[in-house]
Amino acid sequence: MGAGIAQSCAQSGYQVMASEINEELLNKGLGIIKKSLAKGVEKGKITSEDEQAILSRVKGTTNVEDFSDRDLVVEAVIENMDLKKKVFADLDRICPAHAVLASNTSCLSVTEIAVATKRPEKVIGTHFFNPVPVMALLELVTTVISSEETLNTAKSFGEALGKTVIVAQDKPGFIVNRLLGAFMLEAVRMVEAGLATREDIDNGMKLGANHPMGPLTLADFVGLDTMYYIAESMYEELKDPKFAPPLLLKRMVTAGHLGRKTGKGFYDYTQG
Ligand code: CAA
Repeated sequence: MGAGIAQSCAQSGYQVMASEINEELLNKGLGIIKKSLAKGVEKGKITSEDEQAILSRVKGTTNVEDFSDRDLVVEAVIENMDLKKKVFADLDRICPAHAVLASNTSCLSVTEIAVATKRPEKVIGTHFFNPVPVMALLELVTTVISSEETLNTAKSFGEALGKTVIVAQDKPGFIVNRLLGAFMLEAVRMVEAGLATREDIDNGMKLGANHPMGPLTLADFVGLDTMYYIAESMYEELKDPKFAPPLLLKRMVTAGHLGRKTGKGFYDYTQG
């Protein structure tokens, strides 16, 4: 998601600093951006001059201290509250006092992240969707502490990226995952109960409801670990059984079958 967010920002004219925890992951992320832009040139969507200009606006670092001159930071680390709190405490120390600190969390409480800083009124959720350069939505998440000014900054940022902005309160799943989570988990339960084949479940929703991907293909695309974290955190807060992660999902995550990124999920991607 980080690469997609960085690309979208650079493509909209922002000067971007992309941070990763080591050189290998940084190069991997920058490689994703290069590949995506090269595809854009190949398809005639952007010129090679645009490609070079966009790339020149993305700088990479493995030292978060380099964020000392940033106006807005979007955090996109894994969905782990302790890690997010540490990242935000560091950003709060490093970034200028006026900077807005945003989280791309898809399920964790933005309020809990905000109180890890001394500027909770400047913390907001900016939930992007995969693939970020393609998806037209930015879901903002406000808290009881976030200020109107922070919300307006985040709205302007989303609009500058060409996204349609929606605003949700800091409640489990926000708007999209509250609905999408319930839907995708039900599809996993249907596989688990042997109600239909995975192909028929996916084709049912693709052809019967015009979804671009069926729920199980989408689960593999999002990552089964991400889906599991989302379900677990929603269930923990809402105690609603419809968000309880199905055992099949848990076992697949334990087995390392995380979807496209590991080559195996509900489908097999190892043959390309
Ligand atoms: N970067 C840039 N462009 C990309 C891209 C990427 N990573 N991936 C695809 N594209 C572009 C393609 O170049 C293509 O552009 P043109 O139409 O202009 O040629 C267009 O997107 C469509 O791609 P494809 O033809 O390769 O394939 P497709 O028609 O099957 O579309 C898809 C691919 C856009 C991913 C589509 O299947 C889709 O919309 N799927 C659903 C995605 C979705 O629901 N995402 C949200 C997941 S939930 C989430 O992210 C949040 C969370 O909290 C978990």
